[in-house]
Amino acid sequence: MDQSAFDKQVTALREQRAATKGTMRDAFAADPKRFERFSATDGDLLLDWSKCAVEADTMAMLEKLAGAADLAGRRAAMFEGKKINITEDRAVLHTALRNLTGKSVVVDGQDTKAEVIAVLDAMGAFAEAIRSGKAAGATGKKITDIVNIGIGGSDLGPAMVTLALAPYHDGPRAHYVSNVDGAHIHDTLKGLSPETTLFIIASKTFTTVETMTNAETARKWVEKALGKEAIGKHFAAVSTALDLVSKFGIASDRVFGFWDWVGGRYSVWSAIGLPVMIAIGPRNFRAFLDGAHEMDEHFRTAPLQKNLPALLGLIGWWHRVVCKYPARAVIPYDQRLSRLPAYLQQLDMESNGKSVTLEGGAVTTPTGPLVWGEPGTNGQHAFFQLLHQGTDFIPVEFLAAAVSHEPELKNHHDLLLANCLAQSEAFMKGRTLEEARAQMLAKGMKPADVDRIAPHRVFSGNRPSLTILYRKLDPRTLGRLIALYEHRVFVEGTLFNINSFDQWGVELGKELATGLLPVVEGKETAANRDASTAGLVGHIHQLRSA
Ligand code: F6P
Repeated sequence: MDQSAFDKQVTALREQRAATKGTMRDAFAADPKRFERFSATDGDLLLDWSKCAVEADTMAMLEKLAGAADLAGRRAAMFEGKKINITEDRAVLHTALRNLTGKSVVVDGQDTKAEVIAVLDAMGAFAEAIRSGKAAGATGKKITDIVNIGIGGSDLGPAMVTLALAPYHDGPRAHYVSNVDGAHIHDTLKGLSPETTLFIIASKTFTTVETMTNAETARKWVEKALGKEAIGKHFAAVSTALDLVSKFGIASDRVFGFWDWVGGRYSVWSAIGLPVMIAIGPRNFRAFLDGAHEMDEHFRTAPLQKNLPALLGLIGWWHRVVCKYPARAVIPYDQRLSRLPAYLQQLDMESNGKSVTLEGGAVTTPTGPLVWGEPGTNGQHAFFQLLHQGTDFIPVEFLAAAVSHEPELKNHHDLLLANCLAQSEAFMKGRTLEEARAQMLAKGMKPADVDRIAPHRVFSGNRPSLTILYRKLDPRTLGRLIALYEHRVFVEGTLFNINSFDQWGVELGKELATGLLPVVEGKETAANRDASTAGLVGHIHQLRSA
C-alpha cells in the first residue's frame, strides 16, 4: 500500500463527488452510451453499474486507487499461498480447492492440489455409495435423508447452494441444523426416521458448542432407536481437527478433512460441500467448482476495466467510503437464491467488519457495510418503501437469470424480470413533483387533492443500484457468482487495508456465553454480573418457576 498515493486518490474522489451536480437521470439523458461504458461481461455474466452515480473520471481515479493499494500484488500473494492472514499466520487458498487442473500451490511443504483431489475423490466415492444405497443404514435401508449439523461457514454455504441448485437435486433430501435452539433439531428430526437418516457433523474446529450440542442430541436420537452399534452407519464428519472427530467416534473412512488455509466462510468448495455433493451428485459438484475456478482465472487475469470482482469491489468501496452509504441490499430476483443474502452477510461482514488496519492501527475510513436482503419480488411488498422514499440511500444489488428452469412458466419469469428492471429504473429515475401532479390530474383527481397528496408521491430518484445478470442458475454459474462475491470482499478488504480473513470479533460473545451457562442453569449466582444481565437472569428464573 502506497499510503500517500492512496490518500491522494481518496481526497480526489471525495472532491469529485462533492462537485457532482447532475443526477443519474441527467447522465443517462446526456449519454446514450452510458450502459456500454459502465457495464462489463465475463462470458454470459453481466455486471451493469451504469445506475451508480459514477463518471468516467470516477472510474479512472478508482483504478489509480487500486494501484496505490497494490491490489494486483495482494491478489498474487493470495493465489500464490502467501500467509496473508497475518493474525492467524495462515495462507488463504480457497481458490486451490477449485483449481483441479492448473499448477499446484505448495503451503508449508504441502502439495495442496494432491490433497484436494484425494479428498474430493473420497467424497465422490462416499456420495455415490450413499446415493446408490450401497452405504445403507444399520438396518440395511437406503439413506433417504441427510442432516448437516454445522453453523456459520459450515452451514450457510452448503444450505444456500443446496437450495439454489434444487433443479439438480436427485439424491437424498438434505436438511440443515445450525441453531443451538433445540427447536431447530427437534423440528428437523420430527419427520425423519433414524433408520434412513445420515448425519454429517460439519465443523472446521470440531469444538463449536452449537454443533457439538446438536451432534450429541443426534447421536442420542440414533442410539435410542437403533442402539450404539448403529452409530457408524449413520454419521460422517467434515473437519480439520481429525483427532477430535475420532474421539467423537466417527470411523476414519467417513471423515473428510480440509485445511487451515480454508476459512470457514470460504469452505463450501471443500469437504464442507459434502451434503451438496450427495444431493446433486459429484458431476454437478465438479461443475460448481469449475465455475468458481473460471471466475478465479478471470479475477487473476482480466484487466481492471473489465474485471468483474475488481469493479464490484471498487464500486462497493466508493459507495461506502466516498458516498458514505452505511449498507447495501442484495436482492436476488431468483427465488432459489433466497439464502444468498444470509450467506453474503457472513462472507462480507465477518470478513470486512473490522476496525484495525493490517499494521495494527485504527482504520481512518469506514469499512464493510451492513449487508442484507431478501428475494424479489417479495421485498418490493415489504421494505422497498424505505429504499425508494426513506431518508437513507442504500445501494441495491439486483441478481437475475435471463432463463428459468421452468419453461412452462415463462409468464412468471417475464413478470419477475419486468419487476426487477422496473425497480432499478425507478430507483434511478424517481418521479418529480411535476410528474406526480401531472399523473394525478390526468387521472381526474381534484386540484385540491393533487396539492395535498402529490408531495407524498414524489420519488427523489438518483438512488444507486447495480445489476448482475446471468443466463441460468446452473452449478457452473452459481460457482462463478459465489467466487465473484468472494473476490469482491477481497478487493474491498484490500482497499480498507484490513485482514479480511480472521474473525476475532466473534470470540468475546462465545467466552461470555461459556461463563454465563452455569448462571442460567442456576448453579452460580448472577450477583457479580452487570445489573441488566443479573436482572434478566432473575426474570428468566422467575418465569421458569411460574
Ligand atoms: O463463530 C464464527 C465461526 O468461527 C465462523 O467463522 C465459522 O464459519 C463458524 O464459527 C463455525 O466454525 P466451525 O466450522 O469451526 O464449527
